[in-house]
Amino acid sequence: MRPELKYRIAYLGACLIWVSGILPRVNADEKPTDWMQVKLQMSQEILAGLTRGDLAAVETHAQKMNVVNFMEKLVSSDKPHYKEYTRQLQAFETANRDLLRQSAAKNTEGATLAYVQLTISCVQCHKLIRDAKK
Ligand code: HEC
Repeated sequence: MRPELKYRIAYLGACLIWVSGILPRVNADEKPTDWMQVKLQMSQEILAGLTRGDLAAVETHAQKMNVVNFMEKLVSSDKPHYKEYTRQLQAFETANRDLLRQSAAKNTEGATLAYVQLTISCVQCHKLIRDAKK
């Protein structure tokens, strides 16, 4: 087995364990909002990690953010599916991938920039949703 594959399987396993840990705290009738609360918490943890220079913590929480985003996409079918929403979702995913890469490389400046981009995507997507409700 390629080492890279082993790593991926181990990562997936770790993600599953982590997700099963948060599941009981999420409402039985999962609403996007519950996942978003986790996203909010993760983004705060990431900021804490950046300010402490703890890039390992940043990477851990960016990974969790990734899993939450994935789970949320699985469980929520009533999300807006218009083009602009998809674009914001992609911006979010790109920024989070960047955050993972930069924190793994222990690049504080790069990770901070990725975090700012991530934050912009949170705000932009929510602004879009508010506008759509008007
Ligand atoms: C691609 C779109 C999108 C992105 C990106 C996104 N969200 Fe959300 N968020 C939503 C949707 C949809 C809801 C449900 C809104 C509703 O029902 O009005 C929501 C709801 C929330 C809520 C609950 C809102 C409330 O009024 O209680 C929080 C908190 C939240 N998001 C935080 C975040 C954070 C933090 C980020 C970035 C790390 C983020 N979201 C990124 C789409 C997004």
